[in-house]
Amino acid sequence: MDPDLEPYQVLDELGSGSFGVVYSAVSLKNSKHYAIKKIKCTNPENIEIALQEMWTLTRLTDHPNIVKMIECYLQNGGIHRVKHGEDDYLCLVEVCLKGKTYHQLPFSNSHNPCGKQLGPNIPHSQLNLWLVMEYCNGGTMNDYLLERDPDPETNARFMTQLSGAVSFLHNNNVVHRDLKPDNVLVCQPVNGDPPLVKIGDFGLSKICNASNLSHNTDINTYQMNSACGSDYFMAPEVFEGSYTAKADIFALGMIFCSMMERTTCYDKESNKLLLVTCITNGKENVPVGKALQDDPKLTFEVLKCGRNNRLKTLVQSMVAINPDERPAADELHKKLQDVVKRQPGWTVCVTSQRSSRGKRKRRYTVS
Ligand SMILES: Nc1ncnc2c1ncn2[C@@H]1O[C@H](COP(=O)(O)OP(=O)(O)OP(=O)(O)O)[C@@H](O)[C@H]1O
Ligand SMILES: [Mg+2]
Repeated sequence: MDPDLEPYQVLDELGSGSFGVVYSAVSLKNSKHYAIKKIKCTNPENIEIALQEMWTLTRLTDHPNIVKMIECYLQNGGIHRVKHGEDDYLCLVEVCLKGKTYHQLPFSNSHNPCGKQLGPNIPHSQLNLWLVMEYCNGGTMNDYLLERDPDPETNARFMTQLSGAVSFLHNNNVVHRDLKPDNVLVCQPVNGDPPLVKIGDFGLSKICNASNLSHNTDINTYQMNSACGSDYFMAPEVFEGSYTAKADIFALGMIFCSMMERTTCYDKESNKLLLVTCITNGKENVPVGKALQDDPKLTFEVLKCGRNNRLKTLVQSMVAINPDERPAADELHKKLQDVVKRQPGWTVCVTSQRSSRGKRKRRYTVS
């Protein structure tokens, strides 16, 4: 049984993912609701994820469309507050870098940066990092949209908020690397204002700070190699193993396609319906990025529906096979705002076609 996380009262489980469980909680100080994510720090991979999420969220200043982290606690026998740069943090970094569990580290009390709180016999179940975040009362964008009738206005609002948030991330040298409707949360204001979406789950994010970026590189040319993301939203070059921040633009393009077209796929693992756009090749659902990586001649075409030519062109450019042809986040955000201003009430159709030297076009079903 988890102890209470003073000064919060932990309530229900809101959701769980590969690395943690998220609970709702109420602050005993101000009676406000928060979401608290508990990440088990029992192996280097989890610790890396926990630290990355904490590090990125600590670094990002306020943005209305990014989930705010309030504070962070380390549970290692006792529970205490931890801040980036403080001893506990360094201790976790060491565990992570050495690829060992806490128990394998040769800490003596004089060398152990966690001092007396870290005993050799602390059960694994009690080594956790708890991230206290703002509570998003509308659940994930995936569920929020699927529980409602399609509404082009809501789509337009969410899309511009998301492009603004990604632009903010990239301007702060942060690449999210796992953008998908399940990692976007919704806040429904109680005063009846329109809902807000917020990007969350920064466990796979990458901060390309000044030392990573040489003088004349920017985030759109800085190369990353670790394969990460969720299949259906991964860009072709991510499957190849070398990519830049433009992989986020591809993922966002796939999110936009599935939002507007309401294309879904049933996920056996999570037992839920997911908003995704994929190519159905016979019985198999193939991620668009994978299909493009396997066959660079394949053209994934975002078809026009109604009068939305400019939007079609924009979304089409976001999922271009060549990352250099995708717009940078800033440019995308500006263009999208412009499209939304001029064309309210739009939708697009999505399908894919294979072009064989311009002679024959094979149609794929998009589901
Ligand atoms: N701030 C929040 N407010 C409300 N619910 C939240 C919040 N953060 C997370 N959740 C819920 O918890 C779930 C898991 O959160 P998150 O995606 O951050 O964890 P994860 O372990 O990294 O998941 P995965 O690896 O599957 O992406 C979300 O899908 C959502 O239902
Ligand atoms: Mg998640």
